[in-house]
Amino acid sequence: MKAIISKKQKIQQNYTPLVLFKNIDALNEFGLIKSEIQYIKQKIKDNKQQIILNRYPDFLFLYHYKKAKTKPEDLEKLRKAASSILKSISEETSLKKLQLVDCLHDKECFYAFAEGLVLSDYQFTQFKTKNKKEQLQEIAIYSRKLKPADISKLKDITEAVYLSRDLVNLPVSALPTPALEKIIIEKAKESGLKVEIFGKKKLESLKMGGILAVNQGSIDPPFLACLEWKPKNATNKKPLVLVGKGIVYDTGGLNIKTGSSMEDMKCDMAGAAAVLATIYAVAKLQLNKYVIALIPATDNRLNGNAYASGDIVKMFDGTTVEIINTDAEGRIILADALAYAKKYDPALVIDVATLTGSAQRAIGSHGIVAMEEKAKTAMKNLKISGDYVYERIAEFPFWSEYEESLKSDIADIKNLGGNEAGMITAGKFLAKFTDYPYIHLDIAGPAFLSKNDSYRKKGGSGIPTRLLIDFIEKNI
Ligand code: BES
Ligand code: ZN
Ligand code: ZN
Repeated sequence: MKAIISKKQKIQQNYTPLVLFKNIDALNEFGLIKSEIQYIKQKIKDNKQQIILNRYPDFLFLYHYKKAKTKPEDLEKLRKAASSILKSISEETSLKKLQLVDCLHDKECFYAFAEGLVLSDYQFTQFKTKNKKEQLQEIAIYSRKLKPADISKLKDITEAVYLSRDLVNLPVSALPTPALEKIIIEKAKESGLKVEIFGKKKLESLKMGGILAVNQGSIDPPFLACLEWKPKNATNKKPLVLVGKGIVYDTGGLNIKTGSSMEDMKCDMAGAAAVLATIYAVAKLQLNKYVIALIPATDNRLNGNAYASGDIVKMFDGTTVEIINTDAEGRIILADALAYAKKYDPALVIDVATLTGSAQRAIGSHGIVAMEEKAKTAMKNLKISGDYVYERIAEFPFWSEYEESLKSDIADIKNLGGNEAGMITAGKFLAKFTDYPYIHLDIAGPAFLSKNDSYRKKGGSGIPTRLLIDFIEKNI
């Protein structure tokens, strides 16, 4: 359960305080005695930023702010600090009600501190029957700088991140394609989004051969979800279209994954999860931005009817694709959705996908591999948002030479390039189905973490939900 977040007008007695401060004079509301002031001063002198006062039967948790070199570093340091304090809190106490107090009086800094705390409190405990880790029940916020709208934003964005993490963490037995469809419909209804689901029959009548081919080995039907947020006062006429890879489980198909490479493949719908979470937050925040989200979904399994390497698939836009490897399935379902996106005459399309092992090998879990076509300015702004929310972008080249390896002797293209630059040739494959300004985000590295990384917990990270929301708010 996510803690309840509320704004308070004064310091509460029944909540344990966690205070962000710079000057010790700003702490006078806490009735510090001389020895406590001495203790805090000594800690500051010793360069200790995290300070705990044991005021039996309660505690006073303090964090002494020191400016970092750049704004993004400053904010990230605060998110991480909140996470590390929460860790100490849960080790030392079993407290349920925390009040965050802003004695720094800096809106951006305090927001980041609060965001780090809420995101750190995430746990995936649905399947735990014993030894569940404790979570906070309530987080009260006392800040002169954060207005009610800022608190709503904090609530909606963190809820969106929790949603995308939950979806990624659910195993395929709990989240097969029909269950994902149900959640998409529920979330759309709850937030006021328009939703249309194309089921198998509709996909057949549209001739979406890519989605249908990958689905051939599955017992569950595929779908393409189209979500729309189009407020009357939208600042943009042409929409931003987001496309998310929704492979609820990737076995590799007939080119079956071996060793441990299938272990985490419930995460192969992390793109879909982030895209759903983003448009859900956009609707909850009532942003005046016209946004569409497309989610093609199926699992990639094998049975007697599974698509095979050597097959030639006719895609939605008529292109024929020679299947070299059935494990390169993400690009096959995404290509149909990207070609379908043309009908919206979009200003920009961003796809999000756990697409290639080579993206993961190239930069690990610290960033997102990205490429663009006709979208230089958007990419520049996306990088700025990426630094700001610390879901950073590493741009890769997108030279035309990379297309050559996709040539096929017997079809228009093949679904696999050569041994080199696999993340780029995968991007080039997708770009063939676009004719608009386009950004491709490969999140195979950061989508699913093998260990806790501060406020990003082991498992689904929720990346790039915060990135996309920030980008939409500031640029669309
Ligand atoms: N879903 C995987 C990519 C992936 C790898 C996601 C690691 C998350 C973590 C994708 O469908 C895939 O299997 N890619 C293969 C393609 C190759 C076998 C042609 C890859 O990149 O290894
Ligand atoms: Zn695959
Ligand atoms: Zn995959």
